[in-house]
Amino acid sequence: MTEIIDKNNLPLHIAITMDGNGRWAKKQGKLRVFGHNHGVKAVRDTVEGAAEIGIKYLTLFAFSTENWNRPDAEVSALMSLLISTIHKETKTLMDNDIKLATIGSTSKLPKKCQKELSEAIEKTKENLSMTLILALSYSGKWEIINAVKQIIKNKISFEDFSEDIFKQYLTTNNVPDPELLIRTSGEHRISNFMLWQIAYSELYFTDKMWPDFRREDLKDAIINYQQRERRFGRTAKTLHE
Ligand code: FPP
Repeated sequence: MTEIIDKNNLPLHIAITMDGNGRWAKKQGKLRVFGHNHGVKAVRDTVEGAAEIGIKYLTLFAFSTENWNRPDAEVSALMSLLISTIHKETKTLMDNDIKLATIGSTSKLPKKCQKELSEAIEKTKENLSMTLILALSYSGKWEIINAVKQIIKNKISFEDFSEDIFKQYLTTNNVPDPELLIRTSGEHRISNFMLWQIAYSELYFTDKMWPDFRREDLKDAIINYQQRERRFGRTAKTLHE
C-alpha cells in the first residue's frame, strides 16, 4: 500500500486481538510457545510504531479469562514471557514516553507478574505520549459483570442509572472507546473483547499471524480505517448536517 496516513484523522484508541501465535509455530513444526516468543517482537514493533504515528491509546489483548483453560505448561510459559518482557521492555516504554496500564482481573496473575507490572506502571506513570493498556485475565463479559456488581454494591438508584454511570464502572473508565479494532490470523470473531467499548468501532481483520505483524501492517489498518465513513447510525446525508 502506498497511501500515507492522514495525521488529522487518527484513531485516538486502537485495540488489537493478537491471534495466531500457535498456528504460526505449528506451521514450522515448532511448539506453540515458540510462536508466543516471536509474538513479543510484533508487540515491540507495533507499540513503537503506534507511538511514532501518534496514537494516544493502544490496547493489546494479551491474555483472556478463557486462556486460563489452556494446558498448564502453556499458561506458565505465557506468564514467564510476560514477566521477562515487562522487565526488559520498560526501557522501550521510557524511551518512547509510553505509560503502561492494565485492564482485567490482574489479581489472578502470579505474584511475580503482578510485581513486574506494578513496578512498570509506577515507573512509566508520568509518560504522556501514549498509554499502552495490556488486557490480562480480561474478558468483556467479566468486565460487565464486575461493573454491575460494583453498581449494586454502591446502591446506585434506578433513577440515577444511565449509560454514563455504567461507563464509569468499566475498567476503561477515562479511556475513549477504540475507534479501530484489529484482529490478526484471519479469524473474524470478537472473542469476548471489549464488548461494551466496541459498539461503534471499525473492525479490521488481517490474515497475517501475530508474530509476523509489524508497524507497516498497523499503518495499513489505519489507512483502511481512514477510508471508511463512520455514520454512528445516521445516514450519509444527515451525518454532515
Ligand atoms: C494468541 O495466539 C495469543 C495469545 C493468547 C498470547 C499473546 C501473547 C504474546 C503476543 C506474547 C506476550 C505479550 C506481551 C504483551 C508481552 P494463539 O495462541 O491463540 O494462537 P492460535 O490461535 O494460532 O492458537
